[in-house]
Amino acid sequence: MVVIFLALSLMNSSSAAVLEEFPDIIFAYGYSDEYSFVFKKTSRFYQRRASKILSLVASFFAAVYVAKWKEFFPQKKLEYAPSFTSKVVSCASVEVLQAYLAWRQLDCHANNQYDTCFWMLVKSGKSISEAQEVLKDTQKQQKNELLFQNFGINYKTLPELFRQGSCLFKKKVDETVKHDENGNPVKRLRRKAVFVHSENISGINFWNEQPSLYNDLGHFTKDIGKIEPDFIRLFQFENKLLPLTWAVVRIDGCHFHRFSDVHEFEKPNDEQALKLMNSCAVAVLKEFENIHFAYGVSDEYSFVLKKESELYKRQSSKIISAVTSFFTSTYVLQWGEFFPHKELKYPPSFDGRAVCYPTYNILLDYLAWRQVDCHINNQYNTCFWMLVKSGKTKTQSQDYLKGTQTREKNELLSRQFGIEYNSLPQIFRMGSSVFRLKEAVAVENGVVSGKKLEGEVALDHCNIIERCFWEEHPHILNY
Ligand code: GTP
Ligand code: MG
Repeated sequence: MVVIFLALSLMNSSSAAVLEEFPDIIFAYGYSDEYSFVFKKTSRFYQRRASKILSLVASFFAAVYVAKWKEFFPQKKLEYAPSFTSKVVSCASVEVLQAYLAWRQLDCHANNQYDTCFWMLVKSGKSISEAQEVLKDTQKQQKNELLFQNFGINYKTLPELFRQGSCLFKKKVDETVKHDENGNPVKRLRRKAVFVHSENISGINFWNEQPSLYNDLGHFTKDIGKIEPDFIRLFQFENKLLPLTWAVVRIDGCHFHRFSDVHEFEKPNDEQALKLMNSCAVAVLKEFENIHFAYGVSDEYSFVLKKESELYKRQSSKIISAVTSFFTSTYVLQWGEFFPHKELKYPPSFDGRAVCYPTYNILLDYLAWRQVDCHINNQYNTCFWMLVKSGKTKTQSQDYLKGTQTREKNELLSRQFGIEYNSLPQIFRMGSSVFRLKEAVAVENGVVSGKKLEGEVALDHCNIIERCFWEEHPHILNY
């Protein structure tokens, strides 16, 4: 019971951080392992691009969840990186939003009541299947009676947190920011996330009493009874990636310019930071067996799903958010291994998108494009930071490099700084590729057993623009 409480508190605490991070989120509602965040109608956040929004929120949530774990479970190690799936539900009017919230809270009620009965039955000695059988097709009233008669539990008296879920919205509060020289508190008005529990979050009594809700999201005009099935279908709708195409999920660090400054990454390339990115990508390939290849440079990584992938039934939001949030939580989890002497100052986040490529050749063109970008950026950045380190201002260095071609940049490096560009570490010049080695076939007592061993995940800094890499490794993309 305590663990459930703590797990919920960690979910709630992470959600409060999300609300404070994204000013356009007005309201949040959650229970169990899910949370809904409501953006204001007028939000222009990331030009309202769904994949950016859903991935960023899931990514930031995952980062905070991992970062805060120790606060809630000081004695328990976080054994593996959690991931969260997310989606954007567009509500065309405040009535639709009201129905959405009613739907989620109904689910909370139903799930919690079922789970309470189920676990009481199991604790009283029933097997899992027996407990399931007892509860099959039971109505709300019957479950309440079962709890009361068998276990003396009055469902209504169980904690609100479990029965009703948690609501979060921002309230203006006076917060002490510091003390002046006389020791008097200096206060500032801040919008802080506060928790509220309510029996009926979609009721007009609750909603229309909160100015911070109806001002940005609109008034509810009447209480609703039954939720329109059309609305539920709308809420459940999922966009799918085109079948039998190569899907690439590309993630990119959000505001990593600032993140690398705050964490004093070496310029232009911080080897440890790149190795951490690579380690996360390796973890992604181990976690998602449908991902066969990944290519990364700077703060971005592209993950290629095999053409036949049925991961999450090809639902794009789920794929994007699961990959992005898993990558992010691994990043936070492994930070200390790569930066043992650097504290993670704030949780990083990544955004994600998915694009389908219809043919093998177009997919290879895409990957080549990313490696060309790596070349161009790395060469420019190497020159730029050498010029800055040699005493030029940033503007002077920019002007100096304007319009220069590859050859001229190489000459500049060699002439002025004695650097042979091609002798710089491959990880900087080529980026990083992650892929599975050819699946080995298990041999038992000298006989091929027919079992396939899971292919080991390899990391390399190879040239993926030229076709020879792909010709030498045809198994990677099963082509
Ligand atoms: P958005 O992606 O639009 O949110 O902005 P961003 O600041 O992340 O910029 P962008 O993705 O275009 O570029 C990545 C940025 O991350 C670079 O401009 C660098 O500032 C920073 N960065 C990435 N890798 C390194 C590194 O190894 N060392 C340093 N010093 N900075 C890095
Ligand atoms: Mg970025």
